[in-house]
Amino acid sequence: MCSIIGYKGNEHASTLLIEGLKKMEYRGYDSVGIATIKSGKLLIRKGVGKVAEVNKSLRLDELPGKLGIGHTRWATHGGIVDSNAHPHLACNSTIAVVHNGIIENYHELKDELYRSGHKFNSETDSEVIAHLLEEYFEITGDIRLSMIFTCKRLVGSFAFVAVFNSSTLCGARYDEPLIVGVGHDDYFLSSDILGFLNHTDRAIFLDNRDIVVINDSDISFFNFDGDRISRKITQVAWELGDADKGKYSHYTLKEIHEQHQTIVKSMDQDKKNLEKFCKIITDAKNVFITGSGTSYHSALIAKQIFSKSKIHVEPIMSSEFQYSADLLDENSVLLAISQSGETADVMHSVKSAKEMGAKVLSIVNIPTSSLARLSDSYLEVNCGPEIGVAATKSFTSQIALLYHVADLIGKKSNGIFASKDVLTKAIKQVLELDSHIESVANQIKGSKDIYILGRSLHFPICLEGALKIKELSYIHAEGMAAGELKHGPLALIDNNSIVIVIHPNDSTYGDTLSNIHTIKSRGAKIVGISNKKDEVYDYQITIPTINESLYPLIEIVPLQLLAYYLSICNNANPDYPRNLAKSVTVK
Ligand code: AGP
Repeated sequence: MCSIIGYKGNEHASTLLIEGLKKMEYRGYDSVGIATIKSGKLLIRKGVGKVAEVNKSLRLDELPGKLGIGHTRWATHGGIVDSNAHPHLACNSTIAVVHNGIIENYHELKDELYRSGHKFNSETDSEVIAHLLEEYFEITGDIRLSMIFTCKRLVGSFAFVAVFNSSTLCGARYDEPLIVGVGHDDYFLSSDILGFLNHTDRAIFLDNRDIVVINDSDISFFNFDGDRISRKITQVAWELGDADKGKYSHYTLKEIHEQHQTIVKSMDQDKKNLEKFCKIITDAKNVFITGSGTSYHSALIAKQIFSKSKIHVEPIMSSEFQYSADLLDENSVLLAISQSGETADVMHSVKSAKEMGAKVLSIVNIPTSSLARLSDSYLEVNCGPEIGVAATKSFTSQIALLYHVADLIGKKSNGIFASKDVLTKAIKQVLELDSHIESVANQIKGSKDIYILGRSLHFPICLEGALKIKELSYIHAEGMAAGELKHGPLALIDNNSIVIVIHPNDSTYGDTLSNIHTIKSRGAKIVGISNKKDEVYDYQITIPTINESLYPLIEIVPLQLLAYYLSICNNANPDYPRNLAKSVTVK
């Protein structure tokens, strides 16, 4: 996902822009650029690479001026080349723009602008914004009107920030986050509060169809219809910005090692809000749950947890939601799970649920996110900023909170609230196996395919473990229900296969053991994750014995560590996996 930032004030803009972009690097990107205004002249430098690399080669932070914009690009339209990096200029180089999102009608706009004489320098959709602003500014001579007319022409998702060489900074958003940072006598515009949190904790969260214009005299807000609107300042939590790696070599490893604490914090909820949240579920005729990637795996766990409490919850993958939205009506509730609260697939699902008259609940890690603000009620997982692109602590916090909600409204309790100390101790014990798990990773690092098998509640953990391995180490991994092996996948198993089995001594133990013998007889190497010692495994990762229904909270930890160490073995960067973004705000 791209990151955008703008600054207007009395400080050296380029230094603050680079600092802000570095704080947002975790969102994923492939190129970087900034533009500043100095004495009415627009200066720009941009290129492919990481912020530190491009800053070193082009001295981005030496651009003069107290007004500027910056961008890190995650390519959607146009190759990863310098000319496609943002900012993008209008023809007369008096306007520069940075953009996050997708302009769906950019071909039509580009043709129209081309016909009226505009010259384009990139293959991107974003560049049309700069030329539209220029076109409308030439007609109206008014920046506010240029912004309004431009926004009305754009179809798709966008948050963009523009500078005019008349020393004006402006921005607009639709379906992509854009936040104003309000300093003492200066302003930031950013995709993420981390972009300016080192300088101010006073933020204005723009809503869809908001436009902001900041000039030398004041800051003003409008909607796309040109009506002046007012927006309030929110004090954001400073601790959101306290993400640092501490003693760990990567954020991902640090966040894995925080889980014995974060799962407990997830159950620390405001009583009234939790009661309201639960009542919306119990009052609903039918309950649907949605998420993407790891958050969808949480939804699959929720289905099994709630069904044990006699509550039917239907999981629908967010990217598939639009094909089954007819199931919802005014008696439905949709529970959306999302760490970032900005995932486009989730946001589209929630919007269609609202159109069907359903109520919307959400479980998020960012309470100021678009999803939280769109929900009838939401719960925070409280796991602190998760910087690593791979979801780790947010996953265990999501499922811990889902167990807690199920226990509060279900007929049968998993006893998670009473098991906090047991779980803390159990996860700590697994984390202490870190170096053993690293050695197992070294044993299996050369594999081309890794299969992860389990049954019942362990099956969604197999899917999540496989996603972690794919995402972090780029090794193909497949999670599957152990009982399905004989219905086809067994054809793939041979003496080069690595099969990880989630196999605690619980009600699934016997059936899965027979699967293990079947695999073993075909020469595969077995990694057993179990609380029971057994020679059948080639490598064993021993987890503590706990209440059977709570195993998902601890058995995912060895898989997260295995994926992390496989990433290191394969010289990948676990914090910034290739091609991925922390929050996928495009469909
Ligand atoms: C998980 O490790 C991935 N980074 C990805 O699948 C992620 O879970 C998915 O994009 C959903 O993100 P969200 O929870 O912020 O909505």
